[in-house]
Amino acid sequence: MGATTLLRKLKGSMFPKLVLDRTLLDKQIAELQGTLSDVTAKYEAELTAARAAVAQAAAAAAQASAAQATFHFRGYDIPVDLMRMTGGGPETFEEISAMHQKNLAKWIGIEPQHSILEIGCGIGRDAIPLSTTLTRGSYVGVDIIGRSIDWCTAYIGARHPNFRFVHYDVDDQLHNPDGTTRTEAIVLPIEDQSIDRIFLFSVFTHMYQKDIEHYLREFRRVLKPDGLVYATTFIYDDAILESARRTNRTIFNLRFEHELHEGCRINSLEYPLGAVAFTRELWQKMLIAGSMKLAKPILNGQWSGFYDKFDDGQDVLILQPA
Ligand SMILES: C[S@@+](CC[C@H](N)C(=O)[O-])C[C@H]1O[C@@H](n2cnc3c(N)ncnc32)[C@H](O)[C@@H]1O
Repeated sequence: MGATTLLRKLKGSMFPKLVLDRTLLDKQIAELQGTLSDVTAKYEAELTAARAAVAQAAAAAAQASAAQATFHFRGYDIPVDLMRMTGGGPETFEEISAMHQKNLAKWIGIEPQHSILEIGCGIGRDAIPLSTTLTRGSYVGVDIIGRSIDWCTAYIGARHPNFRFVHYDVDDQLHNPDGTTRTEAIVLPIEDQSIDRIFLFSVFTHMYQKDIEHYLREFRRVLKPDGLVYATTFIYDDAILESARRTNRTIFNLRFEHELHEGCRINSLEYPLGAVAFTRELWQKMLIAGSMKLAKPILNGQWSGFYDKFDDGQDVLILQPA
């Protein structure tokens, strides 16, 4: 067959068929590709959702196991997540507790028959050791973290009926963000002039002037005439601020760059109650407002790096009724 004849034959019959097949195939390929990309998109979305669900479950599991983690301390298994809400964890819990107990004994003296009030008792760092000291006395611990108070009641209070824990649902950005009341509304469930010793470790460091003054007035009301208060605080002046910024002694980077009002500085604008410091002059005014006075000279804290000799991590006011 000649070339011309072959070409004519191809044009006349096979070529259109091939073209038709090719068109069909292209269409089918396009359809398959469409289906494939639909399926891929669908599975990618499902895969992404599945990955997110797995990550969420893992985070929840980690949170749950962290919540269940406990630290054994003097016969108690303390939930580590609640412990961390006191600003520290298992690595320092015992050491800090021992320092607190030593200072309470040294500076205000705790006797077996004493009636004790602690504000900001947290998860019982000091209630637990005191439960063996106060054999004939009593203890009331106050805090604004409901779960910590529930735990203290369920475990410490259950073993020691002379230990009572009270929750106030005070609104506080750090410790109780959904709180419904204010410190100024608190009336301690304690009779007038019935308390021998009050202590607050690292609590006035998280409060403003008006709330501190309110507590001081309550202390004046509930303290016996010879009662004493041990309260830690941050006290500053220019030289102390300079030293704190230069030495940076704590893990909290305490610089107190922001003056809230005269005599009061905060460390962070984002978390204003994270650390609050006062001058001696403002403390003097607050004491007058609360009808309290210094029972001893102010003890020096280590936090600022300003003092060569120090008695506690923070500065300490030992107070008595004025
Ligand atoms: C840094 S932690 C110290 C806890 C405990 N004193 C200790 O040393 O383990 C401060 C505690 O004060 C409590 N707190 C803060 N504001 C309070 C307020 N207005 N009244 C009572 N407790 C408060 C917090 O909930 C937290 O437990």
